[in-house]
Amino acid sequence: MSYFTDKKPHVVVIPYPLQGHINPMLKFSKLLHLRGFHITFVNTEYNHKRLLKSRGPNSLDDFIGFSFETIPDGLSTMDGDGDVSQDIPSLCQSIRKNFLQPFGVLLSKLHDSAMADLVPQVTCIVSDCYMSFTIQAAEEHALPIVLFSTASASAFLSGLHFRTMLEKGLIPLKDESYLTNGYLDTKVDCIPGLKNFRLKDHLSFIRTTNPNDSMVEFLIEAADRVHKASAIVFNTFNELESDVLNTHNSMFPSVYAVGPLHSFLNQSPQNHHLTSLGSNLWKEDTECLDWLESKEPESVVYVNFGSVTVMNSTQLLEFAWGLAKSKKPFLWIIRPDLVIGGSFILSSEFENEISDRGLIASWCPQEKVLNHPSIGGFLTHCGWNSTIESICAGVPMLCWPFFADQPTNCRYICNEWEIGMEIDTNVKREEVEMLINELMVGEKGKKMRQKAMELKKKAEENTSAGGCSYMNLDKVIKEVLLKQY
Ligand code: UDX
Repeated sequence: MSYFTDKKPHVVVIPYPLQGHINPMLKFSKLLHLRGFHITFVNTEYNHKRLLKSRGPNSLDDFIGFSFETIPDGLSTMDGDGDVSQDIPSLCQSIRKNFLQPFGVLLSKLHDSAMADLVPQVTCIVSDCYMSFTIQAAEEHALPIVLFSTASASAFLSGLHFRTMLEKGLIPLKDESYLTNGYLDTKVDCIPGLKNFRLKDHLSFIRTTNPNDSMVEFLIEAADRVHKASAIVFNTFNELESDVLNTHNSMFPSVYAVGPLHSFLNQSPQNHHLTSLGSNLWKEDTECLDWLESKEPESVVYVNFGSVTVMNSTQLLEFAWGLAKSKKPFLWIIRPDLVIGGSFILSSEFENEISDRGLIASWCPQEKVLNHPSIGGFLTHCGWNSTIESICAGVPMLCWPFFADQPTNCRYICNEWEIGMEIDTNVKREEVEMLINELMVGEKGKKMRQKAMELKKKAEENTSAGGCSYMNLDKVIKEVLLKQY
């Protein structure tokens, strides 16, 4: 359904410059485009180059009514995979310091282009909630702004309360020993909506001993600006986080849960001209899909730690031997920069042990993999996209949260929704082997798969006509995104 035939409303969309943020915001943009919006999608120059490298030159030029613009990321110039843009504290500092000016210039340029009738006049900004400088830009250009949380509603709420936790003296930690002495098990009962949360369930940025930690400052600055936004949009759905969504509704006037976004897109016309518009910053290996064809239904463990997680070579070996000893088939995505220091060796003994039972690739079409009938479980770092993609595929999880919102997601996966089990941070092969077996063929795994299938059904209902997320998408369009149209 398209609302407009004539001069379109024009939304400028700007994600935080990481894969896990670009993906859902591109999906949201596509949904808006399908409903008649003109879209300008803003990447950093560096990420745009990577997109073009993984997709091919000129591959982003021909999407009518959907254009890409870039701004510099202010980090030192980089080529290849030696990647400063994966250093989150540096990136956040650069965002605070360097992004407002070029983003303002871009908005002015779009305004001038609109005056010359080259593009429709910009009617709204949709900004990643962690790109909070956009609030100032929106004020300067008198535009409404919607904040989009690529993380869960719970993780967003945790970020909103960093000041509270500072004021209560819960953070910063007194010294490094507090990371391991049980202090992180302390219950935090001063945050309505996050029931029974322990410190360790909050965003990992609480795990600092520095009173002037730059990530804490970054989050507090973002939190202080939220109330200036016209609305907040979440890639989640009611049945997953109803308590937290109620809390947000009591704090802000306009909150919309519109997820899972890819469930929407799966129901949209597949022959639409944006269908081929993907957002992978790494080149996809699609051969793993052929390999999956040769495997039995629900027999394969899929292992992927997303786009930012890193581990040392000892941890990699523990996972490798845990997978090998489990005797289950596995597809393991090892990003070129997954292992700290870059190099790792999987011995010939390991290769012999797994023979053709395991496949290793460097990046894959994750949603297609998760939805392949031979996938039976997902060993994941619990990024929010991976979490919600796994739910939409009805696949239970083994969780090894690394940082940011991943501990929060892990808590929900294991304790609230009961569709996963956690692997200790200090990963050991015996535990990996045992949990993989429980996940794939154990009684607990069976129950978790059933619950995951129930949530998958709820996800589909939410994004079908008349579903809650479906109606929320319509509402945010009518009530906010078209306000200035
Ligand atoms: C980051 C944070 O770590 C995450 O916790 C936060 O919620 C979003 O930003 P990332 O670590 O990359 O994201 O994890 P995740 O949220 O799971 O996003 C990864 C995305 O890349 C997913 O959409 C996934 O489908 C895609 N992906 C990943 C692939 O398409 N292929 C791969 O091989 C790996």
